Amino acid sequence: MQLTLAQTAHSDGDNALFESIANDIVEKGYSISPCALPDDLSSLLLQHITELPGEDFKRAGIGRAKEHIIDELIRTDEISWITSNSEAGSSWIEWSESLQAYLNRRLFLGLFSFESHFSHYAKGDFYKKHKDAFKGEGNRVLSVVVYLNQHWSAADGGELVIYDDKSPDSSVVDQNIITVIPNFGTVVVFLSEEFPHEVLPARRDRYSIAGWFRLNNSIANNIDPPS
Ligand code: OGA
Ligand code: MN
Repeated sequence: MQLTLAQTAHSDGDNALFESIANDIVEKGYSISPCALPDDLSSLLLQHITELPGEDFKRAGIGRAKEHIIDELIRTDEISWITSNSEAGSSWIEWSESLQAYLNRRLFLGLFSFESHFSHYAKGDFYKKHKDAFKGEGNRVLSVVVYLNQHWSAADGGELVIYDDKSPDSSVVDQNIITVIPNFGTVVVFLSEEFPHEVLPARRDRYSIAGWFRLNNSIANNIDPPS
């Protein structure tokens, strides 16, 4: 297949990014790359998210009615699951699958499937400290978050805070805390079971994508297909 110049440059850039993500994961278990998502992809995603009809966003994490109140104490953002039915969605999934393939080749992670959603945090919205997966329970291995906010300033809040309990230089009382500004194109990747994290209240509309690479959990007759 003949590659255009743009495509070649694109994949070279991705490979450098994927390599640095792989190295970070090995060294620290998490990776933060400011302004790293290819610009054309970030722009496509931002345009798509701003054009999505409001009713496509649903209050996140709503279980049964009884759990509703609890959910609202933990997170107040709205989400919309990403499918490949749009150009933006399929480009994002393609990019994520190339990251998955790279990490599988490089780190033998055995990542099998990927799921992701857009998140919209309106003014005042937050997501309290949580983990994306629990040991022995889920099969979410690696979390990825990207941000689609242009001109984010410190006054806008909405930082992602990652708690690195396992950092060698931290004691039980003195946790190592990593703060990420949700700037356009920033890519965050971390081991889902290892890092509790939270989203501080946003003071303006805040858009992100959260995604998870999963293992294939199908055992014997107990099929657990990716959702
Ligand atoms: C999540 C999450 C972080 C963010 O959706 O699980 O932690 O910065 N999102 O949007
Ligand atoms: Mn999370």
